[in-house]
Amino acid sequence: MIYLNGKFVPIEQAYIPVLDRGFIFGDGVYEVIPVYSRKPFRLANHLQRLQHSLDGIRLKNPHTDEQWQDLLVQIIAANEGDDQYLYLHITRGVAKRDHAFPAGIAPTVFIMSNPLLTPPQELLLTGVPAITAQDNRWGRCDIKAISLLPNVLLRQLAVDSGAMETVLLREGFLTEGAASNIFISKNNVLLTPPKSHLMLPGITYDVVLELAQAHAIPYEVRAISEEELRTADEVLLTSSTKEIMPIVSLDGKLIGDGKPGLMFKQLNQFYQQYKAVTMRGGNAAAV
Ligand code: PDD
Repeated sequence: MIYLNGKFVPIEQAYIPVLDRGFIFGDGVYEVIPVYSRKPFRLANHLQRLQHSLDGIRLKNPHTDEQWQDLLVQIIAANEGDDQYLYLHITRGVAKRDHAFPAGIAPTVFIMSNPLLTPPQELLLTGVPAITAQDNRWGRCDIKAISLLPNVLLRQLAVDSGAMETVLLREGFLTEGAASNIFISKNNVLLTPPKSHLMLPGITYDVVLELAQAHAIPYEVRAISEEELRTADEVLLTSSTKEIMPIVSLDGKLIGDGKPGLMFKQLNQFYQQYKAVTMRGGNAAAV
């Protein structure tokens, strides 16, 4: 069952008009929210980021946080599996094709749920390969826009070369992954770039930094050069669906000893514990 513009329907029965501006212009934003044990994880943060994305494209939020929560609870209940991921998608709506905003139209609101398939244990034990590429996206990567063509092309480069992710570099500095945020570890210090218009402000990124703080893991949020990335002891990717994963090679060259390191193991353990605590109704913050 999915939700489309006020109705809950089976996905096969859900249609949108071809003049939807999401279809014509990619004019919309989205969110991906993990659900563990039927509870949305860090919901308030995801709804805040959704508001940020909507503000970024000058589209009024069609719902209050309470209304979103209510819709999400219904979608979770209507779908199988305790662990799901929710996909929320809002476009500017349906109008005759013209680039500028049309007046007086209602946005299209779509929500679906899929099973949440977190990475298999084997991959966490062996780690995964990644490649690098120049970050050729636009200057508002902080907006979770549905127009994802650059990300699609960049991610496909990874798939074509048998890698898990494409790590992006802009003017000699690390930005993020094609669909994830990136951390490195050097001399037992966790490093990640600061939030800016050049990357998505990841919710998992926030959780990892909170966990580092809570467990007294030294960390620095600062610009990371290509040289530092390539000579890191460890490289990690984070996202709502992949959680935390160890990257053990970049462009075919091993990172450190080519095995998941202590920084990954610690953070992943803390992340799994934190998930378990929040799902039992514990504190929302990791600290
Ligand atoms: N993508 N950066 C990009 C470009 C992303 O697409 C994502 C997540 C992230 C990680 O953000 P978060 O920790 O909030 O999931 C960073 C989602 C999972 C997707 O598009 O499917």
